[in-house]
Amino acid sequence: MVRAIQVSVPGGPEVLETVDLPRPAAGAGQVLVRAHAIGVGKPDFLFRTGVYRWMPKLPAVLGSEMTGHVEELGPGVEGLRIGQPVLVTNYTGGCYAEYIAAPLSAVTPLPDGIDLDDAASLSNYQTAWALLNQAARRDTVRSVYINGAAGGIGSAVVQIAARDGLTVIAGASSERKCAFAREQGATHTIDYGREPVVERVLALTGGRGVDLVLDHIVGKDFTDNLKMLAPLGQIVSFNVLGGLPEKDLFREMRAHLPKSPSVRCFTMHSYDHDPAMKQRIAAEAIALFAGGAVKPPIYRRLPLAEARRAHEMLDAREVLGKLILKP
Ligand SMILES: NC(=O)c1ccc[n+]([C@@H]2O[C@H](COP(=O)([O-])OP(=O)(O)OC[C@H]3O[C@@H](n4cnc5c(N)ncnc54)[C@H](OP(=O)(O)O)[C@@H]3O)[C@@H](O)[C@H]2O)c1
Repeated sequence: MVRAIQVSVPGGPEVLETVDLPRPAAGAGQVLVRAHAIGVGKPDFLFRTGVYRWMPKLPAVLGSEMTGHVEELGPGVEGLRIGQPVLVTNYTGGCYAEYIAAPLSAVTPLPDGIDLDDAASLSNYQTAWALLNQAARRDTVRSVYINGAAGGIGSAVVQIAARDGLTVIAGASSERKCAFAREQGATHTIDYGREPVVERVLALTGGRGVDLVLDHIVGKDFTDNLKMLAPLGQIVSFNVLGGLPEKDLFREMRAHLPKSPSVRCFTMHSYDHDPAMKQRIAAEAIALFAGGAVKPPIYRRLPLAEARRAHEMLDAREVLGKLILKP
């Protein structure tokens, strides 16, 4: 049998059930992977609460990211070997488990010797790299404001942007989280629990504003971001945890016409039908790890059976960086 964490009805952390399921076998085109580390992230919260756009039918095993070793190759699978370290990124779940039989398309081979606990954060670094290099017109970006910077993706953005020599302004909800963002390489931080973000960004940039705003919170005052954009500046929203903007976005963009602002809604699912680009993004993130250019901040390693506690921590917004589960 295989221990796994299952959701039957959407809800709070209490809906996570530890179950024993028959050990899966690798079917045609599938790879059986034995888990080493399981990433916990916001998409898991969306899945748990039943609002994830790519929700599978319930009951289902939670989890979209896992590192581990190849245990079995299904018929027709080539290019991997038994024992190979891999990353599994399976948007429809299944990763909160000791084993997963994943489609080959969800499996990325990893270099031997990579730290598999660290590599459980690779999806965050892929998203962060894509935000900075694909979603944004990277050649024009010298400064970035990242909202909600102390989480998994936020800290990955801070590390990559700092390594690239950008001026990084990180926003977070407390001084504890701001101090953490500075440890990740942020040039400046703004405690949005008590400081006005627009005024502070303008002050920190000598009134010019930033070239790029990365925002997964959004919320009713989202259009205020336009006030702190530099000329030809860009805003990329990659979720709306705080809800939608109150004001009409296009009207507000027109009001800032002298700066020619742009706003993009971004998801990694844009590459679902572009395997070449997915591979390129994965290779970029793996190269950052292999070269030691980034180091994921692991907040806690918890046993898989404590997934409920992990979600309580996530909901309490206490996590700095990344939480991982160990099978
Ligand atoms: N577009 C894509 O392709 C893509 C892919 C993966 C993830 N995402 C999104 O990226 C975001 C970050 O994911 P993550 O895994 O890095 O999350 P995480 O580690 O849980 O971090 C989320 C951060 O958001 C802040 N936050 C602000 N408002 C919040 C709210 N209402 N509820 C919870 N947190 C809130 C928290 O910081 P403070 O307490 O300091 O405010 C927290 O540090 C999520 O919104 C996720 O859905 C997008």
